[in-house]
Amino acid sequence: MKIDLLRKLPEHMDTLVLLLDSKSKVDDIDHLPSHFKESIEAYVKKEEFKPEYAKIKSFHSVYKGQVSNIILCGAGVAAKLTADKLRRLFADITRSAIRLKATNVYLFPSFAPPIGDTQYGHVLAEAALMTEYKFTKYLSQEKPHAIGSLHLALNVKSTRYINRGIIEGRLYAEVTNLARNLVNEPANVIYPETLAEAAKKAALKYGFSIDVYPMDRIRRLKMEAFLAVGKGSKAEPKLIVMRHMGNPDAKNKTIGLIGKGLTYDSGGYCLKPPQSMLNMKNDMAGSAAVIGAMCAAATLKLKVNIVAVVAACENMISGEAYHTGDLLRTMSGKTIEVINTDAEGRLTLVDAIHYAITKEKVDKILDIATLTGAAVGALGTEITPVVTNDDAWLAKLETASEFTGEAIWRLPAHENYNELIKSQIADLKNTGGPFAGTITAALFIREFVGNKPWIHLDIAGTALRDKESGMYSVGATGVGVRLITQLLREMA
Ligand code: BES
Ligand code: MN
Ligand code: ZN
Repeated sequence: MKIDLLRKLPEHMDTLVLLLDSKSKVDDIDHLPSHFKESIEAYVKKEEFKPEYAKIKSFHSVYKGQVSNIILCGAGVAAKLTADKLRRLFADITRSAIRLKATNVYLFPSFAPPIGDTQYGHVLAEAALMTEYKFTKYLSQEKPHAIGSLHLALNVKSTRYINRGIIEGRLYAEVTNLARNLVNEPANVIYPETLAEAAKKAALKYGFSIDVYPMDRIRRLKMEAFLAVGKGSKAEPKLIVMRHMGNPDAKNKTIGLIGKGLTYDSGGYCLKPPQSMLNMKNDMAGSAAVIGAMCAAATLKLKVNIVAVVAACENMISGEAYHTGDLLRTMSGKTIEVINTDAEGRLTLVDAIHYAITKEKVDKILDIATLTGAAVGALGTEITPVVTNDDAWLAKLETASEFTGEAIWRLPAHENYNELIKSQIADLKNTGGPFAGTITAALFIREFVGNKPWIHLDIAGTALRDKESGMYSVGATGVGVRLITQLLREMA
């Protein structure tokens, strides 16, 4: 989809969108030809259309024998619109235009951008391109309708800021859609080796460096917890390390991004029931999020140093698989008693974190993982639980979240729950029992970050949608890509 500021009105427009705020008069809208004004005013009167927020209607208008789609979208009180409220409107408009099989869309807002021009251009492009995304690769018949172009009819003093925003929003959507593709691909297509290949391809395209370490290297690194999880699978584990050194002068300022990369999670010998197993190709959504964020960071040439680490493997069953009761020595030396083979994510994450700290010298750690079913129970599919040991860093994440609309909510890392992950025969056990599962998982991970600033995002609930809504289609949301990108920009 081409997206730009309208330069010149064409003879015929196949689809017109009016974005109307509560105070607007159709007659006052810039650039809109008068014959459309008449038919729209007639429709508004007849149907008693009120421009309430997110109210949307469409009809046809015929002029000189040519038919145009008209979409009316209410915006409510313009001054109350935030970046994310606008995003939702642009998403609804895009969905409506797709339904009408629109090819060239002309968007006429009745009000000036209520947020900065750059942000306005950003959310417009991002919402349109993210809404257009649908995973249809394996459908031999149905191909999704693609809108050819979207032209924004807006009077601005300078086109520079809107245009800059459009480029930025396009990037955010593109890298998020890349992550969504990786997550939506099934486990017979994306396994550790192919995940690594995909990351290599992205590295080449977007310009960051990458190393993929095979089994023997992982063994030499003594990442026994990571290896234990992958043992039951025929697919060889891979350690994927991506680097963007945007500020080589700054010492002690490398951010470590750790993404959970379980390309499939059967649960291991603590086998999941079929319904829970069904979606477990998505258990690498954390790794997809960090890959997406690396693409954005490299494109934006962010002046920060970032090392992203993914311990990619598959949690399966076989004569080789790890057992419950196994005692594992992590790379850090800390020992773990395996209570449940389905609590595998944390085992891979802590070795990846220790690797990032000791071998890549990261100073801050952000991990992102589809880690606990308890996260879905606690906050559902719209809000990502976050656990941290650094209030100032969290404040930055909250600012980022407010802009990207990926909601987060802090859960406490309550000291008393440390009891729950103590083992009689090892330093830690890998589950904390039936209560506060998201917190105990986070506390487990915290044992491996030392005194480094740390943010933990549990995206088990937010990585996937089973219904289409807003910018999201059924399947992967790409949650975290935009959030982490925005956070990195806050830090650059
Ligand atoms: N990958 C799952 C978590 C998950 C659940 C992600 C639902 C997406 C949707 C994780 O590896 C897991 O199995 N967690 C267990 C932990 C338990 C055994 C302590 C869980 O949440 O049940
Ligand atoms: Mn599991
Ligand atoms: Zn898992």
